[in-house]
Amino acid sequence: MADNRFTWCGHSAFRIETGGDKVIYIDPYLSANPACPSELHKVERCDIIALTHGHADHLGDTIEIYNEHRPKIVAIFDLCWVLGKHGVAPEDCVGMNIGGTAEVGGIKFMQTPATHSSSVDDGGEQIYGGDPTGYVIELEDGFRFYHSGDTWVMADMEFIARLFKPEVAMLPIGGHFTMDPVAAALAAKMTGVKRVVPMHYGTFPVLAGEPVQLAKELEGTGIEVLAVEIGQEFTLP
Ligand code: NI
Ligand code: MN
Repeated sequence: MADNRFTWCGHSAFRIETGGDKVIYIDPYLSANPACPSELHKVERCDIIALTHGHADHLGDTIEIYNEHRPKIVAIFDLCWVLGKHGVAPEDCVGMNIGGTAEVGGIKFMQTPATHSSSVDDGGEQIYGGDPTGYVIELEDGFRFYHSGDTWVMADMEFIARLFKPEVAMLPIGGHFTMDPVAAALAAKMTGVKRVVPMHYGTFPVLAGEPVQLAKELEGTGIEVLAVEIGQEFTLP
């Protein structure tokens, strides 16, 4: 099977071209994302979108991508209901809930909790969008990674390690709305991963955490920080 090719689009947005030839976007905050270069705004192909929660910096271009490419959308049940109001057909939104696993096109999505908030900007009004979540995603070759969404460090990360055994974690380090590098280092240890991809930093001045601080916190633990460049493809595992 071919490599799994990942691209960080800035903030919490990732594009994954899997070894099984599926294109997945996680939290596709692209066109309004100040960290996302314009060449990544255009989505050429998309089979699946996974959404961690309803905040605008995660929902991003979901509706536009849906209208153009008709991907399946994986989200917490309540968020599917909101997306339905914006034209997403019920059969295209895989509404699930925390602790569940959904298989979509040969990819497994295990929905995890997150300690954060969630709402959706619905024409200027903030409406309920279900709880915030994260995912452990298993690709066709069995490779498992954890995208925590926006969260504080939480005891559930030990359960995620024991039950889902991810090899790599994408963790927020910016602080203010999420964990900072110190808390993210603890999260990395708790999830039992070998490598961490820092995210949700630098997009706005308030997200001040830096990968070098995370690396310092993880010194001597054997956990590697993969500080990937925005727009530069990397392969996993
Ligand atoms: Ni958020
Ligand atoms: Mn966020």
